[in-house]
Amino acid sequence: MPQRPRVLVARKLFDDVLEPLAAACELQTNPDDRTASPQELRDWMRDKQGALITGSERIDSALLDACPQLRVVSTMTVGYDHIDVAACAQRGVVVTHAPDVLDETTADFGMALLLGAARQLGEAERYLRAGSWKNWSASLFAGSDVHGSTLGIVGMGRIGRAVARRAALGFGMRILYHNRRRLEESLERESGASYRDLDELLQQSDHVLLALPYSAEARHLIGAGQLARMRRGATLVNIGRGGLVDEAALAAALHAGHLGAAGLDVFENEPTPNPVLLDAPRLLITPHIASASLPTRRAMVRLAVDNLLAVLGGGAPLTPVAPPRAGA
Ligand code: DGY
Repeated sequence: MPQRPRVLVARKLFDDVLEPLAAACELQTNPDDRTASPQELRDWMRDKQGALITGSERIDSALLDACPQLRVVSTMTVGYDHIDVAACAQRGVVVTHAPDVLDETTADFGMALLLGAARQLGEAERYLRAGSWKNWSASLFAGSDVHGSTLGIVGMGRIGRAVARRAALGFGMRILYHNRRRLEESLERESGASYRDLDELLQQSDHVLLALPYSAEARHLIGAGQLARMRRGATLVNIGRGGLVDEAALAAALHAGHLGAAGLDVFENEPTPNPVLLDAPRLLITPHIASASLPTRRAMVRLAVDNLLAVLGGGAPLTPVAPPRAGA
């Protein structure tokens, strides 16, 4: 009987969802639900053919060099900026990710963060719990309206479009969008969204939501200059990746009162956000949980398992990450 492939499951995931993997492979699982150090990850992956990872494990060429038998890295996330995909391709390691299954849940959260930031839910709750509420006041936590306003979405992939549908149909918002490539007319129509270049979008939106993946070119896409171009009192929401926003510039724009509010689910340095954010006013922050409904997190792990089983069984991955084109 051929040897069962050895697979690392880098974090504590859902045992029942992992069952098919456990049945087909020899599994090593991270005994604690914490991110492994680079050394631990190297030690655990050294003799493995497959790895099921989350967004917290960094796969780089040094690690790959220590894992000569590795055939597939399957991340349970849609984002894959933690994986050096080119280095994997050079070594014949297949990379898979988990798109589609989290779109609706993440879009729900995008709306929640937008509403929560614009209406100052975080600060209002802290104020009440601290016993600071002595009087009702007409201007107490009077934020900005979401309904009927203009939402600018940067990154009009599946998640961006799912936010657009909610915003247009549920909140009567006018939708502008910016994307690397303009959408086909039918998709624009379906999302009720009009294309703008980034500066126009920033100038014309009451609220701006980032839903694009991270890449080196997109680092600090929203910096001091872009924040200054946003409308006074506007809201910035980021459900993409922390590195898209210059966090020090964002904190400064909130302190200066130019930005009305911001909502961040992602940070440049996770899990330890830049301290300048922690005392910025009118900022709602959450610990990278936009896709965190139980059914969705289970579906993400299930897809990661199916990808691993497909590749280790000699078949094609279900949702591969395409290696970057040479010269791209
Ligand atoms: C993703 O899937 O990329 C989410 O951001 C969770 O990490």
